[in-house]
Amino acid sequence: MILAGGFGTRLRPLTLTCPKPLVPVANVPIIRRIVEKLPDDVDKVVLAVNYKLEQLRDYFAHNDVGREVVLVEERQPLGTAGAIKNVEAEVDGPFFVFNGDVLDSLDLASFRRFHEKRGGLGTISLWEVPDPRHFGVMEMDGERIVRFVEKPQTKEEAPSHLANAGTYLLEPEVFDFIPAGKAVSVERETFPALLQAGRRLHGFPFGGYWVDAGRPDTYLHANETVLHAAGRKVLLGPGTTHEAATFDDWAVVGARCRVGAGATIARSVLLDGVTVGARATVRDSIVGPGARVGDDAVLVECVVGEGAAIEKGLLLKNVKVDPAADAS
Ligand code: GDD
Ligand code: MG
Repeated sequence: MILAGGFGTRLRPLTLTCPKPLVPVANVPIIRRIVEKLPDDVDKVVLAVNYKLEQLRDYFAHNDVGREVVLVEERQPLGTAGAIKNVEAEVDGPFFVFNGDVLDSLDLASFRRFHEKRGGLGTISLWEVPDPRHFGVMEMDGERIVRFVEKPQTKEEAPSHLANAGTYLLEPEVFDFIPAGKAVSVERETFPALLQAGRRLHGFPFGGYWVDAGRPDTYLHANETVLHAAGRKVLLGPGTTHEAATFDDWAVVGARCRVGAGATIARSVLLDGVTVGARATVRDSIVGPGARVGDDAVLVECVVGEGAAIEKGLLLKNVKVDPAADAS
């Protein structure tokens, strides 16, 4: 199952018009990247959804991802554990759970073998981070998790640098630990409750790459990481044209974009249908679908919402621009 609800608040204004799991990373929606790396014998994908459900339904109605996809709606967000409980009827046997905004090189076959060998109620993928404050952090006894601290306030409160990387393999018995019909957090409530009850959870650290695309800076990093993993520096979507533009360091440009003469795109993502005027500069920024950047405009560390128009010659630094009033 994929946790594909939540409001994507930190990725606004992009997520004002698009649910976070459908935001493309290196031109492919995050959720599609997650589905495509599932082992072949995973035949069913259950999406726990609420915010902008129709857009997700529409995406899977028009894009065949080679598996059965079931959308389970939460009338209001039930939190990460509430969302898991809410799909209980769709699941039998052990199941993978994915945070819908994480991309990584975790090998799911080894992850599963590890879980089957160690037993216990669940296995959590772990990634070592320099600053654990944005994450769920583990206290370990060998391979066993003994304490789970979600978002420690200070570095001192963090028992280690091993962070919850957002992929779980859970036994169905976990459902018994989640109360139904209310908002529950798997990180703040269910995992601590399981440990309190003396049930076993194991941690599975892995190497390669790992990114949570849920914040503007990490979203850019996710694009860069996926690009580099594919051995590329610049990605141009189908139907995109540019007139002698400069792509500096790395750049991801979606489909049907037009980049004007002498423009510079550096460490940035342009989503589908973006127009960038002549001599304009886009640096460390994200430009939403169909947005227009005027001639000679300069964007630095900005996030531009869908369909927005940036005036000619305007200089913006660290600004979030709302979507156009008529953007979907
Ligand atoms: N269905 C549903 N319902 N999904 C939800 C809900 C909800 O109420 N709330 C959040 N989600 C989804 C989000 O869309 C995302 O895919 C996933 O659950 C995790 O939520 P985030 O809001 O992205 O959490 P986070 O990034 O702050 O922290 C989580 O991820 C870290 C790794 O990136 C936690 O799991 C941390 O422990 C972890 O370290
Ligand atoms: Mg996240």
